[in-house]
Amino acid sequence: MQIFTQFSEIRAFVKAAKMQGKRIGFVPTMGNLHEGHLQLVRQAKQTNDICVVSIFVNPLQFGLSEDWEQYPRTFDSDVEKLKGENTEVLFYPSESEMYPNGMQNQTRVFCPTMTDILCGASRPGHFEGVTTVVTKLLHIVKPHEAIFGIKDFQQLAVIRRMAEDLCMDVQISASPIARAADGLALSSRNGYLTDEERLTANQIYKSLQWVQSQLASGETNYKQLEEAASKQIEAVGMRIDYFSIRNAKTLEEAVSEDANLVVLAAAYLGNTRLIDNVTITL
Ligand code: PAJ
Repeated sequence: MQIFTQFSEIRAFVKAAKMQGKRIGFVPTMGNLHEGHLQLVRQAKQTNDICVVSIFVNPLQFGLSEDWEQYPRTFDSDVEKLKGENTEVLFYPSESEMYPNGMQNQTRVFCPTMTDILCGASRPGHFEGVTTVVTKLLHIVKPHEAIFGIKDFQQLAVIRRMAEDLCMDVQISASPIARAADGLALSSRNGYLTDEERLTANQIYKSLQWVQSQLASGETNYKQLEEAASKQIEAVGMRIDYFSIRNAKTLEEAVSEDANLVVLAAAYLGNTRLIDNVTITL
């Protein structure tokens, strides 16, 4: 596996590979890789000749009181995992490589749609940080395809919208949610959980599944379902941020005419913020 830290290096590599007719798949990450990330890598390798992974813990998408400093950085084991998947290229830029004029002076990409609701409501500026860094990474790597996890459903929706609005010449693909045996969606932040917290963390998924089954059996009182599911999650000691049934494309609150729904949840267990979702077609 080749590891590049400068964008001039990766640009030269990709340019040469494209001249040989190779198709490039790209998986952006913040590292601390787990099975969810590796599934994205496998998907990228299936439909492309070369898989480029990036690791960059992007400070621009973290709020001042959030966990940027604490975020797990596990470069050596990440490299081993990527080698295990026969990843061709790792792009591992420094902060000064990504933000040469300083993060505060960085030109931003702002998507006005879907970014001030759900996770965006409790994490102001988060999605602007994501869309800005993803735009930069796509400009640097210039892949044919970029793959994102459905685990971060809102992030995927915002990136799709951004790519469409900015006429980006890249295919945005989605990969299903990788889960632990008890249903908890894999996440780098799960490592913050104590052993005791870990035992109850899968309640979010249990409640999402319960709502999914209620919707499938014809329940139409969305508000009542959201409230009941929130109570289930709070009963095991979590603090609900949101639990919401939405239109899967627009992320607007679901109405009875909507056929494609997504049920999204975010909750704090101790200091750890967990998110998850399920989709359903009625
Ligand atoms: P990160 O949280 O490292 O996630 C990188 C990619 O892995 C994202 O597309 C995310 O949705 C996907 N992913 C994480 N956990 C997953 C799981 N359990 N199942 C399937 N996919 C999963 O998301 C980010 O980084 C950043 O915001 C980034 C897009 C890299 C921009 O900085």
